[in-house]
Amino acid sequence: MIQIAPSILAADFARLGEEIRAVEAAGADVIHVDVMDGHFVPNISIGIPIVESLRKITRLPLDCHLMISEPAKYIEPFAKAGADWISVHVEACDLRELLPAIKKLGCRAGAVVNPPTPIDRIFPALPLADYVLVMSVNPGFAGQKLIPECLEKVRALKVECDRRGLKTPIQIDGGITEDNAPAARTAGASILVAGNAIFKSGDYRRTIATLRGE
Ligand code: DX5
Ligand code: ZN
Repeated sequence: MIQIAPSILAADFARLGEEIRAVEAAGADVIHVDVMDGHFVPNISIGIPIVESLRKITRLPLDCHLMISEPAKYIEPFAKAGADWISVHVEACDLRELLPAIKKLGCRAGAVVNPPTPIDRIFPALPLADYVLVMSVNPGFAGQKLIPECLEKVRALKVECDRRGLKTPIQIDGGITEDNAPAARTAGASILVAGNAIFKSGDYRRTIATLRGE
């Protein structure tokens, strides 16, 4: 089953509630919340108070992608604010400590890997991850082009999961479009994050269905 996770980074923040209701009505499975601190990535976005507000207006899981330094300090506030999924970067923390800590807070724990980082960096923590997020752009901004080599990392990760008998879902994030979504799905990604492809399209329902391969 393919899940579609609209990234609200590309939404109209002045109408955020409406935008979320619209993608929920259009068939989105998860709401992807990009959290940036201006330190781990060269941009600042949104944080805990927004998650708290969003929790009240949607039933969809809130997938908080923490692009921040020292994520260990913030997993509990995000969980308390209503995050359902929390993903943390292998470049920012020790996954073998943080993934179990996230699960202890009652959330699904995701391991994230940046484009320049070899995929095998997350292999030691693979059995601890509820999902793995393979970044297909360098994090910091919505609206970038997918780096094609990242699809190879998705493939390699899928092979490793199969080899170990793990059913770990693979999420892909960055530059996903209606044109490259089939390649991402074929490579083994089952959760597709999309910002611009959805929020800058005129028809959220049609776009979400196409990304899903319907
Ligand atoms: C990049 C973010 C992505 C991004 C996706 O730093 O993690 O979630 O906003 O947006 P698009 O789909 O427009 O690349
Ligand atoms: Zn993201």
